[in-house]
Amino acid sequence: MKQQFLPEISKTIVLVGLMGAGKTCIGQRLANALNLPFVDADDEIEKAAGCSISDIFDLYGEPKFRDGEKKVISRLLNEPIHVLATGGGAFVNRDTRERIKKNAISIWIRADIELLLSRTRSRNNRPLLKNTNPRAKLQQLINQRYPSYSQADIVIDSGYEAPDITVKQVISALETFNVSMRDR
Ligand code: S3P
Repeated sequence: MKQQFLPEISKTIVLVGLMGAGKTCIGQRLANALNLPFVDADDEIEKAAGCSISDIFDLYGEPKFRDGEKKVISRLLNEPIHVLATGGGAFVNRDTRERIKKNAISIWIRADIELLLSRTRSRNNRPLLKNTNPRAKLQQLINQRYPSYSQADIVIDSGYEAPDITVKQVISALETFNVSMRDR
């Protein structure tokens, strides 16, 4: 197989996008390809809180979760360079978005609603999709959040292709991004 040229990475890479877009799956593979550590912000929030995200929502409510999410991501952005997958709401928060824009390279993993639905259907670990019509909820989130996601440095469309294909697209886009930053 042809070896892909690896871009120089000078900042943490942050993946943003809706639930089910594949941020964790792509992030793990991307980190592996770039030889960087992978961190999942939701896992870090759970570790910090000592309970699951569902329990945080149930016991303390969404605002408390958002507060923790903001603090955890802010801390992670000060850690050595890594690939960071964020929860779907993180980049919608203005402070978090500005911090990511300043200190990291942001990549929106965009997927269509059918794919998001099929990927989120099998698991019951997402409080925002519980006890609701998931299609209507995801459509509402698309309408609310896409203006924020579109502020990411790089946008990658992810479909039904194998994750490694998407990772290759991300790596090429990072190289193009580096060149455009150099030319500024
Ligand atoms: C959320 C997405 C989830 C998790 C939480 C809230 C959101 O993460 O952070 O349930 O607001 O979209 P994933 O996007 O990794 O599923």
